[in-house]
Amino acid sequence: MRKKIVAGNWKMNLNQEEGHKLTSEIVHMFEDENLKDVILVLNPPFVHLQGVKKLIGETKGIFLGAQNCSDKASGAFTGEISASMLASFGSTYVIIGHSERREYFKETNALLTAKTKQALENGLIPIFCCGEPLEIREAGTQDAYVTAQLSESLFGLSPEEFGKIVIAYEPIWAIGTGKTASSDQAQDMHAAIRKHLGSHFGEELAQQTPILYGGSCNPGNAPDIFSKNDVDGGLIGGASLKSRDFVDIAKSF
Ligand code: 13P
Repeated sequence: MRKKIVAGNWKMNLNQEEGHKLTSEIVHMFEDENLKDVILVLNPPFVHLQGVKKLIGETKGIFLGAQNCSDKASGAFTGEISASMLASFGSTYVIIGHSERREYFKETNALLTAKTKQALENGLIPIFCCGEPLEIREAGTQDAYVTAQLSESLFGLSPEEFGKIVIAYEPIWAIGTGKTASSDQAQDMHAAIRKHLGSHFGEELAQQTPILYGGSCNPGNAPDIFSKNDVDGGLIGGASLKSRDFVDIAKSF
């Protein structure tokens, strides 16, 4: 059985008070509503990590994650945050290669390999993002585009290293647009990703790899998307900023 994961990516939102309020509400709902078999991951901006970790406390099933890490271990890289710092502040997960990082900060597949290695070396679970822009979807070449992102960044890893990774498929045209992929589009891509992973790492490892969907996921569309065989949860942006919506998405399996 693959893990079911619903991860919230707060992006660059919420001040301290708002972040604490959101976290407390999520923790209480998670406990009161007895969510079983689903892992929640909260990925706030770096400055929130310590506060959010404290509020999560010992709650079983809720984990802390970050939105990015450096490709370097340490040193004179002003403004950067290393994977070892994230681990020391209680992070379990880290998002790597979000399309916003790829687009606005010019992160390449090679750089993302280095970030993934840093994460793994420091015991973090990478949530590795992939996804195609609209023009690729319109040209019908999305499978080749996405599978190339994965092989270029991840196929140099050993099977042991790869076995720790979570994949998030986020079609760029669906992020923050309100235009979600249909559940069939998500399933088709997730199946193509799993097949591609299997061709390199073997069927068993591919079957164990959680593949999350992201892009305008909400409590209304999550049950349909999560019902698909190869969809193991979601990476949630806007709706993760509302406790009720986020927890309802986590109840959508
Ligand atoms: P939205 O859910 O706001 O579309 O964002 C998705 C996303 O980018 C999560 O990483």
